[in-house]
Amino acid sequence: MSENGHEKPLNGLSNGSAAHERPIRVWCDGCYDMVHFGHANSLRQAKALGDYLVVGVHTDEEITKHKGPPVFTQQERYKMVRGIKWVDEVIEGAPYVTTLDTLDKYDCDFCVHGDDITMTAEGVDTYHMVKSAGRYKEVQRTEGVSTTDLVGRMLLLTRNHFKQGQYEYSVEKEHSTTMGQDSSARSPWTGCSQFLPTTQKIIQFSDGKAPKIGDRVVYVAGAFDLFHVGHLDFLEKAREQGDYLIVGLHTDPIVNIYKGSNFPIMNLHERVLSVLACKYVSEVVIGAPYKVSESLMSHFKVDIVIHGKTSVMKDVDGSDPYEIPKRLGKFKAVDSGNEMTTEKIVDRIIRNRMEFQERNRLKEKKEIELIKSLKLKGLTV
Ligand code: CTP
Ligand code: C5P
Repeated sequence: MSENGHEKPLNGLSNGSAAHERPIRVWCDGCYDMVHFGHANSLRQAKALGDYLVVGVHTDEEITKHKGPPVFTQQERYKMVRGIKWVDEVIEGAPYVTTLDTLDKYDCDFCVHGDDITMTAEGVDTYHMVKSAGRYKEVQRTEGVSTTDLVGRMLLLTRNHFKQGQYEYSVEKEHSTTMGQDSSARSPWTGCSQFLPTTQKIIQFSDGKAPKIGDRVVYVAGAFDLFHVGHLDFLEKAREQGDYLIVGLHTDPIVNIYKGSNFPIMNLHERVLSVLACKYVSEVVIGAPYKVSESLMSHFKVDIVIHGKTSVMKDVDGSDPYEIPKRLGKFKAVDSGNEMTTEKIVDRIIRNRMEFQERNRLKEKKEIELIKSLKLKGLTV
């Protein structure tokens, strides 16, 4: 039995001699555009079905052909998937339709996908081959988040995903996208935007490990909104400064004070999961104070506080939020070497507004047609 309690398949049977165990290799594939905790959660579940997780990521060309242009380039998407802690290996340029040859080429036992349906431009189920060969497993899709929905939030500049005052931690009750059909005819996959955070999900995403004696503890803080390649490069550099990396996440109202407009695009709970899914992160402070205090530093036994490439915004009283670690000689600025920011992502989307709106409309239309045809056949989703 594996650590996950699954029977391991046997190999080395070619000459009929004693079998020896080998790890179960699991295959996942997808676009992984604007990687979010929904993607990460599907990879977490897939990894739990085996021992080694191989993830195939499609090229920009393939995605453009089948569902419209991705927001992130293939190089950015490959890097983001590599940054997820359950991923062991990334295969660049994986084919859009998953074939048995692909599974065999990478020595994978089966393919895992969320319980939504992915189709080619021609309307063919991209997993039909692995399904009929019995080499397909499904995991539960994470409700309330999709690339499509995040794009919708940015295009519409909605603020419903975070609430202030007494509703600060409440989640969105309405759809934040209105693209496609009217709200009564939304797809259950693309058109839904009600993420329900639970402590269980946080536990599933956490390492649950305290720092070991002698570990050098690194602390960073920020919004980490729409977790992107700039954040990933920064966290990699920050982690190199020590052994245990704590990320303090500012609350939604604090982020809104210094970023303005409808920022953050993702609410605090969503940002917690995105950051926890990153392989460099050991622990997250959910709602960190803007000013790094002495008590926070002694509570977490912080050895060094790090800030990245972006400029530091003053606190509301005009003071430097890093005043105390600087005075203690425990502050360091590192260069992530990456120019990406959350604002640049929003700009990219707004600049290509028409293309993304059309992509969203087509995706939802396809899904609604599929549901209608399943209903006609007496099947449910
Ligand atoms: N996935 C998931 N939960 C989500 C979103 C995605 O489990 N909320 C899973 C999908 O089911 C799939 C994998 O993540 O197994 C990769 O999905 P991808 O191909 O990137 O597409 P989506 O994010 O589903 O689609 P879109 O970008 O069009 O929103
Ligand atoms: O802007 P935000 O608060 O999300 O940034 C969190 C941390 O990531 C900050 O220290 C910031 O300087 C760093 N960062 C970086 N390079 C980027 C984007 C963010 O070093 N391209």
